[in-house]
Amino acid sequence: MYASFTFGAAITTILAAVSTVSAQQACNGYSQLCSVPYHHISTIVTHNSYGFAANPAANQACSVSTQLDDGVRGLKLSAVLPSNVSASDPANNIHLCHTSCTILDAGPAKDTLSEVGSWLKNNPNEVVTIMWNTPNNKAFKPTDFQAIYEAAGLVDISYTQPSGNNTWPTLQEMISSGKRLVTFTDLGANQKEVPWLLSEFDYVFETPYDNSNENSFKCTIDRPGDPSDPENMMYVMNHFLYGSLNLGGTAIEIPQKGKANSTNGDSLLNQAKNCQSTFGRNPTFLEVDFFNYGNTLQIVAQLNNVTYTETPLKCNQQSSSTAGGASAKSDASSLLSTSSSMYSSLVFVSLGSILLWTL
Ligand SMILES: *[C@@H]1O[C@H](CO)[C@@H](O)[C@H](O)[C@H]1NC(C)=O
Ligand SMILES: *[C@@H]1O[C@H](CO)[C@@H](O)[C@H](O)[C@H]1NC(C)=O
Ligand SMILES: *[C@@H]1O[C@H](CO)[C@@H](O)[C@H](O)[C@H]1NC(C)=O
Ligand SMILES: *[C@@H]1O[C@H](CO)[C@@H](O)[C@H](O)[C@H]1NC(C)=O
Repeated sequence: MYASFTFGAAITTILAAVSTVSAQQACNGYSQLCSVPYHHISTIVTHNSYGFAANPAANQACSVSTQLDDGVRGLKLSAVLPSNVSASDPANNIHLCHTSCTILDAGPAKDTLSEVGSWLKNNPNEVVTIMWNTPNNKAFKPTDFQAIYEAAGLVDISYTQPSGNNTWPTLQEMISSGKRLVTFTDLGANQKEVPWLLSEFDYVFETPYDNSNENSFKCTIDRPGDPSDPENMMYVMNHFLYGSLNLGGTAIEIPQKGKANSTNGDSLLNQAKNCQSTFGRNPTFLEVDFFNYGNTLQIVAQLNNVTYTETPLKCNQQSSSTAGGASAKSDASSLLSTSSSMYSSLVFVSLGSILLWTL
């Protein structure tokens, strides 16, 4: 009797120990972050996360799920209506395109969102943020976003933060509640209609994004023009460079892969420190091109006061043929050797806007 009681107690102790271990699982890779509120954590956001095809307009080097595997927790996506798709075809009308779908079309957004959904299912202790931008100021309806999130199975895990509340739950609270996908859009939100589609500029401001050299990064508020609560809102620190390429007398802007090691190294940490001193808190979202170059993940670990464990990035293996980065020059020559239809669409679009590829 006594022996079996002891045995039972031992089992109970073991079970308690096991559940303690699982309660102490990492949140976004670090157990120390479980108790930290979402808005106090610094995260790498990939600029134009979907743009990783071999294309001079690409801002990244590997797929969205590889980015997530490597530790990226924020995705900046562009919602664009292709000219040959009907606006009234929810679930198919939003494509991931680089300003114009003739330049870079990564397909219907719901496909990439499904990839994110599978990744989240396989990684139950992770909180991910999606930020939509709407190039050309073309707003989609909240119900269009609802349709693609439904198609991708993402509605159930989408988190709703009440508008006007800048105090977010901890990562552990979000994970335990099962609501661990946060979605912002710069245009087209209506939280009365679709509560989880958060209006970015009610919660977040951004530093200027149109930078052409490392000295141009500034810690000033660029968008929105009139932030409601700049002392308490989260912020995106934009930290990527555009180069100018002269195409037939017209200047167009292209990502600078050849400079990314440097842009994403000390330059990134220095701007984070500058913004920390300007705004009194660390950047929430560090938005970068080619996150696999430089020290992006080491830098956010440092800002988050956690210890980064050096591990080879899957992204470098996936993009090994171009690892180390094509130079700006080879980007230019590959651009010049792309098809004439792409060339003419580039020229066409660039005539329309000098900030051709800035978003
Ligand atoms: C739209 O055009 C693209 C590029 O030509 C093509 O790949 C795609 O299949 C077309 N989509 C539809 C719905 O026709
Ligand atoms: C703001 O949201 C947090 C997290 O959900 C919650 O704990 C808090 O009560 C909310 N504050 C207000 C004033 O509603
Ligand atoms: C890391 O430490 C700094 C300085 O004490 C603090 O401002 C920041 O909020 C901390 N970050 C996290 C995620 O705890
Ligand atoms: C970037 O840094 C990596 C690692 O140090 C190096 O292998 C690669 O050649 C560098 N790429 C460029 C474009 O400087």
